[in-house]
Amino acid sequence: MKKILVLGSCGQIGTELVLTLREKFGSENVVAADLKDACPENLSNGPYIQLDALNKESVRSYIIDQKFSDVYLLAALLSATAEKNPDFAWKLNMESLFIILDLAKEGHISKIFWPSSIAVFGPTTPRIKTPQYTVMEPSTVYGISKQAGERWCEYYFNKFGVDVRSIRYPGLISYKSLPGGGTTDYAVDIYYKAKAGEHFTCFLKEDTALPMMFMDDAIRATIELMEAPKEQVKIRSSYNLSALSFTPKQIFETIKKIIPSFSIEYQPDFRQAIADSWPASIDDSYARENWGWKESYDLDKTTMEMLNNL
Ligand code: NAD
Ligand code: SER
Repeated sequence: MKKILVLGSCGQIGTELVLTLREKFGSENVVAADLKDACPENLSNGPYIQLDALNKESVRSYIIDQKFSDVYLLAALLSATAEKNPDFAWKLNMESLFIILDLAKEGHISKIFWPSSIAVFGPTTPRIKTPQYTVMEPSTVYGISKQAGERWCEYYFNKFGVDVRSIRYPGLISYKSLPGGGTTDYAVDIYYKAKAGEHFTCFLKEDTALPMMFMDDAIRATIELMEAPKEQVKIRSSYNLSALSFTPKQIFETIKKIIPSFSIEYQPDFRQAIADSWPASIDDSYARENWGWKESYDLDKTTMEMLNNL
């Protein structure tokens, strides 16, 4: 019987992941955990616990006591927030991972999901159709923490047989919960402004292409990877995953087809340098070949979903 813990459950991914896992495996079998003291309304259909991913003692005793089979570790500082607090970003992103990896090494968890990011790549990486295996010299603290995390995941798999699985998510677009401080957040904010009939000021230049994905695709990919037979999961660092690639100008034009009065201006800030260091598009052929990944949302379909549901 599966018993699942989602640690960092109240954020952009966690909210939708918990709801989908509960539909699939039963609400009582999926515990949401986060720093937040109260369970958000949208996760109140199942168990919730306040848990600090950095409190080693509490995390260990709770996981050992509750006998979780699968742990999804989502607590982290994202790229833009991490640049403002690099010491703490490194601490949170790395220490939380070691606590969970060690629990699995000791046999208290069967399977771990830990997300990586396109931020593992850097300015010396080929930007178009970035391959799975290529130059990786990340220039942000977030990217450095994700790259180090990937190395440790693979190490724990090779040395200790820890069943850890990971995806290098692109920027994620969703309407059920807000993004938490990333460089790709503009691609969610733009829909809120369009829907509210307001002018949008974009913090990236109009021609900055980045890899993106609608949240439903990201959640499906995550669960498909976690449910794939062990022998199909051939990469234990993290899988490239791709769906969309677009610029602020392209997303604006897609929205403008539906809301002709929508207007935009571009005022790049410190996040422009982060975006410039990341890939424009991703080659995810290993995910497609190994465990059958295929996206179902293009930019037009994503835009319809966002504008219809916000
Ligand atoms: P988010 O910022 O929206 O959510 C993170 C959640 O973790 C928040 O609810 C926060 O309260 C919680 N949290 C923070 N510190 C905690 C702690 N010490 N203990 C317990 N909970 C804590 O982030 P997200 O977008 O949902 O991202 C989740 C994971 O996916 C992160 O590892 C992130 O790096 C990765 N990722 C996200 C994206 C994206 O576009 N959203 C892209 C690539 C990778
Ligand atoms: N969406 C994330 C960010 O911008 C990518 O990891 O930080």
